[in-house]
Amino acid sequence: MRWIALFDSGVGGLSVWREVAQELPGLPLLYLADQAHCPYGVRPQAEIRRIAQEIVRWLIAQGAGVVVVACNTASAAALYHLRERFTIPIVGMEPAVKPAVSRTRSGRVGVLATPGTFQGEPYARLLARYAHGVEVIAQPCPGWVEHVEDGCLGGPETMALVARYVRPLCDAGVDELVLGCTHYAFLRPWIEQVAGPGVDVIDPAPAVARQTRRVWEALGAAVDEERPTYRFVTTGDPPRFRAQLRRLIGWDGPVETAQWREGTLIG
Ligand code: DGL
Repeated sequence: MRWIALFDSGVGGLSVWREVAQELPGLPLLYLADQAHCPYGVRPQAEIRRIAQEIVRWLIAQGAGVVVVACNTASAAALYHLRERFTIPIVGMEPAVKPAVSRTRSGRVGVLATPGTFQGEPYARLLARYAHGVEVIAQPCPGWVEHVEDGCLGGPETMALVARYVRPLCDAGVDELVLGCTHYAFLRPWIEQVAGPGVDVIDPAPAVARQTRRVWEALGAAVDEERPTYRFVTTGDPPRFRAQLRRLIGWDGPVETAQWREGTLIG
């Protein structure tokens, strides 16, 4: 079995998973939620690199033919490093600054992401490359990842948490909002509600899914449209992960676990 494997610090990457599942129906997908280390966004880059490297080693040992880093923070910290160390194709993510810059009419773009994503080299390079003549405002959103992991979406708490970081951007004249963290895609309905109809919200997940399809097809691997097989693995609490899967992507099936022991992933 050759898997397309995706990983994230938790359930955020499921927003990429659902796009990949739609783009490549019938393909075996293996998803690892590293909930033992969630959130990644506040961890040092070197630590995320070590974690990501061990996860990719483990995914390859499970039979991964392609890895999708379904996490902006891990991509920012580790993507180049991973591509140097492993020979299988590795698809990564970055905030969709390019389309936002090309679409803005106000000349102001907001990027919502974790501190880790903004600190990484790739984000600086992205701005240097695309943000010409446009103001790109970096907005970290403390508490959003935890809120999505907790799963109590909707209601006044969600609205208040979303408004805290989205409203100031809208008041500053932003008309393009980039979802630069895969967890934030699950807050999209509330982000759109706070931002209103004059603001575009850009999620890179569909583009990442299309890229995954191109990479998969370039490998010449077969697609069995009849029997999609999905595996969901957590390094955290399995019953909690099961409930999250049900709520976020409507998957009601078994989950597996993998454990960290002295920096090594076992399972
Ligand atoms: N969902 C991840 C991202 O895209 C990581 C969030 C976190 O664990 O802080 O950045």
